[in-house]
Amino acid sequence: MTFLPIFLCVAGFLSTVAAGKHDIYSGYSVYGVHLRDRSDQKVLYDLQIELNVDIWDHGAPEVNDALVMVSKEIGTKFLDKLDENGMNHYLHLADVATSLEEHDRELSNWKQSRTNRMLFENYPTYEEVDAYLERIAAEYPHLVTLVNAGPSFEGRPVKYLQISSSNFTDTTKPIYFLDATMHAREWVTLPVALYTIYRLVENPRDQDRDLLENIDWIVLPIVNPDGYVYSHTTERLWRRTRSFNASVTTECWGVDANRNFDVNFNTLGVSNNFCSNTYPGQVPFSEPETRYVRDIILENINRIQLYLNVHSHGNYVLFGYGNATLPPNVVQLHHVAATMGAAIDTKKLPQARYYLIGNSNMALYGSSGSAQDYGQFVGVPFSYTLELPGYTYSFQVPPQYINQINTETWEGIAASARLANLYYRARNSN
Ligand SMILES: *[C@@H]1O[C@H](CO)[C@@H](O)[C@H](O)[C@H]1NC(C)=O
Ligand SMILES: *[C@@H]1O[C@H](CO)[C@@H](O)[C@H](O)[C@H]1NC(C)=O
Ligand SMILES: *[C@@H]1O[C@H](CO)[C@@H](O)[C@H](O)[C@H]1NC(C)=O
Repeated sequence: MTFLPIFLCVAGFLSTVAAGKHDIYSGYSVYGVHLRDRSDQKVLYDLQIELNVDIWDHGAPEVNDALVMVSKEIGTKFLDKLDENGMNHYLHLADVATSLEEHDRELSNWKQSRTNRMLFENYPTYEEVDAYLERIAAEYPHLVTLVNAGPSFEGRPVKYLQISSSNFTDTTKPIYFLDATMHAREWVTLPVALYTIYRLVENPRDQDRDLLENIDWIVLPIVNPDGYVYSHTTERLWRRTRSFNASVTTECWGVDANRNFDVNFNTLGVSNNFCSNTYPGQVPFSEPETRYVRDIILENINRIQLYLNVHSHGNYVLFGYGNATLPPNVVQLHHVAATMGAAIDTKKLPQARYYLIGNSNMALYGSSGSAQDYGQFVGVPFSYTLELPGYTYSFQVPPQYINQINTETWEGIAASARLANLYYRARNSN
């Protein structure tokens, strides 16, 4: 979802009057849509492209309802289309602006109620994360190497950590590569990346020593820093990058980074509307941010055993390909995904959905140019999209849940790392 520049100007002007940070979302509502079957899902997906509505939750037929954000102008048209198709719907959130203001109050209360929380217990800013990565690298030089992949479109360094008990020199070890915040608004993915660093570096438990002895790690907490910063300052629900190319369009900024990879590019689950949340860009790897992820994968391709591209929300572990073709090692892919999902479920909240695992196309929807598919395509044996929980809150998960999500997800990360390591050793001993 994107707004015309003129609307931004109006909102900017109004904000000096009404001082509402999220005024840009006033008049936006979220509808729940009941899905009976795959064809209902398809109707919704087509409406996303036709009307450029913002799907918050794709839903699963007869399991959970889809959630869709619409503007006042589009709302009637959208509901008419649902009615034409006999699809039940209801108002889930009357005013998105109000709900975002409430969420902001929750966040500031959380920050004020205790000031000495760890970074991973909050939604930290880009600058806080940057300082943290620098500090960890300085404090643990024998374990951690900080790498600056290069500048984002707007010039922010995209930094990641290599974590290794052998300074990345033991080429018999597999590498586990985790990245987060590729989609700017999926804030809860960032604490999970930071908590992973915490458990590996700052607070390793005895029972987890094997994870460092046997495996090297790469953790890239903020793939899309420009989008992430923009989601803090201006549009909380921004998903895309923030690139701008006047010879392509002056109307909208950014592309969907998770459609920008060079695999089946621009073929499925994409929109050629420059302002769409699934606009893949003009060419594959048009974005510096996706090029950095590509380079990390290719530079380490002989050793990366598992790539985990972390998103939110929906409680899924998904694998390729987005066109519904299954990779040859699908049994193993399925095994590791199931192990990850089941490990997380052992710690889940009673009200949370169980994890669902499967091919991303068959379990959710068709896509092309995704990071998950790219990893699989260039030879990472286990390449996944992880969709963390949103409970009923979608992208605005209350901070009280962050620790829960961090610790339960860590169980899945550790379990998948161990099993992928076994597969790696088995393959290399043959
Ligand atoms: C780790 O290896 C790099 C070269 O890849 C080297 O510059 C660095 O000094 C090494 N660090 C330690 C702690 O040995
Ligand atoms: C802008 O888009 C044009 C047309 O697709 C392309 O040739 C050019 O390289 C792009 N510029 C940048 C800086 O990416
Ligand atoms: C789906 O994508 C994969 C990876 O690019 C490719 O190998 C496969 O042939 C594609 N399947 C179809 C039906 O196009």
